Amino acid sequence: MLDPYKIREDFPILERKVNNNPLIYFDNAATSQKPRQVIEAIKSFYENHNANVHRAVHTLSQEASELYENAHEEVARFINASGMEETIFVRGTTEAINLVAYSQGLHNLKENDEVIVTLMEHHSNIVPWEILSKIAGFNIKYVDVNNDGTINYESFEGAISKKTKIVCVSHVSNVTGVVNDVRRIAKTAHEYGSLVLVDGAQSVPHLPVNVKDLDADFLAFSGHKMLGPTGIGVLYGRREILEEMEPFQGGGEMIRAVEFSSKTRRCSITWNDLPWKFEAGTPNVCGGVGLTEAVKYLKKVGMENVKEHEEALTKYAMSKMRECCKKVKIYGPQTPTAKCGIVPFGVDGVSSHDIALFLDNYGIMVRSGFHCAQPLHEVFRLNSSARASFYIYNTCEEIDRFIEILKEIEQF
Ligand code: ALA
Repeated sequence: MLDPYKIREDFPILERKVNNNPLIYFDNAATSQKPRQVIEAIKSFYENHNANVHRAVHTLSQEASELYENAHEEVARFINASGMEETIFVRGTTEAINLVAYSQGLHNLKENDEVIVTLMEHHSNIVPWEILSKIAGFNIKYVDVNNDGTINYESFEGAISKKTKIVCVSHVSNVTGVVNDVRRIAKTAHEYGSLVLVDGAQSVPHLPVNVKDLDADFLAFSGHKMLGPTGIGVLYGRREILEEMEPFQGGGEMIRAVEFSSKTRRCSITWNDLPWKFEAGTPNVCGGVGLTEAVKYLKKVGMENVKEHEEALTKYAMSKMRECCKKVKIYGPQTPTAKCGIVPFGVDGVSSHDIALFLDNYGIMVRSGFHCAQPLHEVFRLNSSARASFYIYNTCEEIDRFIEILKEIEQF
């Protein structure tokens, strides 16, 4: 098991106070805090190695290019991709999903084709498909979610057909923490010849994730939710699919040659190798360096340990909320099985924003609102929810303090 108290020593922000109280950070599903190792790596990059990559023969550019390529390799090993060709660096999960929508979807989806999306998706796995369906004319089929927040697999099996071209599913819900059986979904999808796009924003930071075991065609995730900096994320894609796909954005880096013909007065363009074909423009080199350090940190802690620690915290929080609070309702699954460290909740008669503001007065950070998943709140018939989400540096002691304040909210 990991020692959260030892881990906390690496996170400078956890030493600060908010509203004269020690900071209790329970908004990890929105973004995680950063360890000193990541902060130092970013500082060291700018102090020692900063240059553009793949553009110059000088020493600094060689060093920056090597660091950036190593970052791809490190991430590829972390998720068991076949190599850096399969790990495209993007801004985050949202950009990764948009990349698939535009590079794969725009060129291949036609009228009468269908895309399947579950009702538990984050808006970033709904909105790009809704936008694109208006351009390409395909249909979207939504898969139902049960009252306990789990996917309704019968609804999925009823929706899939030979018309389905892409199935879009989150590995872990950002609202409930429910872990979906992606393997099961991928098996069915592949039987129908469909691709599978997995939103791994809430799974890659919290569970051991192996793309070969998942059998996903695409996996999207963000660096900032897994101890890395903002502005860097990853799209994993199967190499043979990425080879066939059209580029997302055009510009430098993603081309091998741009040749002007004086005869046609047009340019003919050949694309660069993977993954650069999908990384137009100057990339976020420093983000890649920070992400490398974040991955190294998580590997040192051990992803099985991360998972176990969060499961223990979730179990503890859910049982204390039930035992000590009369007006607190937990939404989604009522047992912590097949669930990551996320607990959505409400207090009778109090709005979620008031709950979050009250907790903030005591230095406790939770998110309130729809958490970018309004359709799922509609399934639950909720106007909003408060959400506590845990990570490797959270402790049962912090949960005890959180429960104390929840009891005050009940009285208030
Ligand atoms: N997707 C992030 C969340 O769920 C922002 O809070």
